[in-house]
Amino acid sequence: MKRSEASRYHAVYGAWQNDPSGFWAEAATAIDWFSSWDTPFDAALGVYGRWFPGATTNVAHNCLDRHVAAGRGDQPALVHESPVTGTRTVFTYADLTARVEAFAAVLADHGVGKGDRVVVYMPMIPEAVITMLAAARLGAVHSVVFGGFAARELATRIEDAEPKVIVSASCGIEPGRVVAYKPLVDEAIVLSSHKPAFNLVFQRPQSAAALSRAEDVDAGALFAAALAAGRRVACVPVEATDPHYILYTSGTTGVPKGVVRDTAGMVALKWTMHAIYGLSPGEAFFTASDIGWVVGHSYIVYGPLLHGCTTVLYEGKPVGTPDAGQFWRVIEQNNVVALFTAPTALRAIKKEDPEGRFLSGRTLPSLRALFLAGERADPDTAEWASHLLKVPVIDNWWQTETGWPIAANPLGLGLVHARYGSAAVPMPGHGLEVVDDDGHPLPHGVLGNLVIRLPLPPGCLPTLWNRDGRFRADYLSDFPGYYKTSDAGYIDGEGCVFVMGRTDDIINVAGHRLSTGGMEEVLAGHPAVAECAVVGISDALKGQTPCGFVVLKSGVGQAPAEIEAELVARVRQIIGPVASFRLAIVVDRLPKTRSGKILRAAIRQLADGEPVRVPATIDDASVLGEIEDVLQARGVLDRLAEQVGG
Ligand code: COA
Ligand code: AMP
Repeated sequence: MKRSEASRYHAVYGAWQNDPSGFWAEAATAIDWFSSWDTPFDAALGVYGRWFPGATTNVAHNCLDRHVAAGRGDQPALVHESPVTGTRTVFTYADLTARVEAFAAVLADHGVGKGDRVVVYMPMIPEAVITMLAAARLGAVHSVVFGGFAARELATRIEDAEPKVIVSASCGIEPGRVVAYKPLVDEAIVLSSHKPAFNLVFQRPQSAAALSRAEDVDAGALFAAALAAGRRVACVPVEATDPHYILYTSGTTGVPKGVVRDTAGMVALKWTMHAIYGLSPGEAFFTASDIGWVVGHSYIVYGPLLHGCTTVLYEGKPVGTPDAGQFWRVIEQNNVVALFTAPTALRAIKKEDPEGRFLSGRTLPSLRALFLAGERADPDTAEWASHLLKVPVIDNWWQTETGWPIAANPLGLGLVHARYGSAAVPMPGHGLEVVDDDGHPLPHGVLGNLVIRLPLPPGCLPTLWNRDGRFRADYLSDFPGYYKTSDAGYIDGEGCVFVMGRTDDIINVAGHRLSTGGMEEVLAGHPAVAECAVVGISDALKGQTPCGFVVLKSGVGQAPAEIEAELVARVRQIIGPVASFRLAIVVDRLPKTRSGKILRAAIRQLADGEPVRVPATIDDASVLGEIEDVLQARGVLDRLAEQVGG
């Protein structure tokens, strides 16, 4: 990647290092506040300190009202591009504001007020964004659950967030099938001990839901009536330290973590829009992700709207809905300046259209950069995309917890020199270090734990919902004074960050973060299973896919193939299709240490055809040979040849 101009990055990073509070106080002037803060940062508050205590504001005001007041009312705010329904709908800032006010009125009619939780389980439709902003307008706390999760995952989130209402849609549209959401919501409510007062359902024409429970409400009808009546709802002032939303993410067990984003998080998000993504107000940003993920929260909904941009809400896949040219069409039609997606989406396009036939005839003059996140941008894919699109391809590394990039190449500050394979340089706010397991700093180029010196900047999680103790234990205790990212990597001599993988049992499947521990819990729940191990094995399209190895209880008469099929169905049923769990393999034994610890890393290395690092403490090394034979016999190793070839 070439430097496009003399970068201001080092000066800006240095300014943050010299005066972190002053840096963020300056950034905070880009937000409208109803009352100012006592101090930009108070280290005595919260778990590790809090940003902008005492200040009040409202997220919806900053995303909508202020832009309408400043004359952007007629500018498109949200474009719903829905190849799966064959529709394209444009909402101006004035339209969107009116709709958010109308739906805020509906929510308020159902008892939603400041601090109440609203669980959102919806596909990529404008009503989902409207619901998020309507909740924020009321000072309520939304928690969006990705549609690809099954009822039990939804239930654990309902249980933890204790929402007053759930807002859902009757269905989502996946290639080749319509997914009915309402039965999943009903089942989740049965499974949860917390019962929301209302379930507001937006009916979609592709499949209407039966609104048969007393708590069921036809959200669309009430929304239309409120809109027709021109109902207005003022923005409720909330504290900068009040939660804006909760977003659950995979932990190392089946119990997800409720990452809290506070209202002050807007300060950092707004700052990133120009500094990192290089956008100016009025320009269009296309983030092809899902509102169920952090990338969707930050860069489909809040970042672009805070910045007065036009944001594209894309309901479809990169390929197959109907073709591999949809991203390019959307860019062309909406004068998109920056595309943000996961590398896996580009791999899908590259597989379908390696020569870029769908791009021919289009020049995409508006496009300035392609941003990739969610998983490491592999150099092959990044180079292919840069060659095709003729714009810089910029990897950025972050997590649900941080809400915005820990490391990136800041387009707005001027690109720094960075190699493909690197997430470039740490962003202001992130004092990034590489340490060994005892917390000792490691030299340049040496792989270790990536940790961030406390305090974290605005936008990063102040805690987990109702669980300060788990927050401390999971993130802050292993390396005192630091936040543990649970990513492994190194920083080279030029200060560039290379993120190489997780240090825990999280795997990354098509840019989706999943817990193998959670999947093991599901497999272990099958009556025939004695023990199991789930590992993420390499996949040319999705990066990784899960593979389960199970040992059956003695005396089980059922055929192993039948049990394997049941296990695949069980993960889909309990966690959801998003897990992409398609491979369960019955084996006689699992490799273990003498103390009984399953050697998951060794199994993964075998499945990926890598040299196996056999620990000295292995109980019986011959088990490795058995596993390798099974992998060979089942054709799992054959995919490696295809991956090299493809
Ligand atoms: N509601 C219901 N089901 C969903 C869903 C949703 N919102 N999203 C995905 N699913 C289902 C899919 O239909 C699929 O089901 P199947 O097993 O019956 O085929 C399964 O979950 C896995 O989905 P996905 O991982 O999306 O795989 P895919 O094969 O459908 O598509 C890609 C592969 C690479 C095209 C796709 O994963 C993609 O576009 N990824 C981009 C990644 C991304 O947005 N990451 C977010 C962080 S930036
Ligand atoms: P999520 O919380 O779902 O955003 O997933 C966060 C995890 O995805 C990180 O901890 C990394 O393991 C991985 N990840 C995200 N972006 C990148 C990237 N650019 N490079 C490497 N890993 C990434």
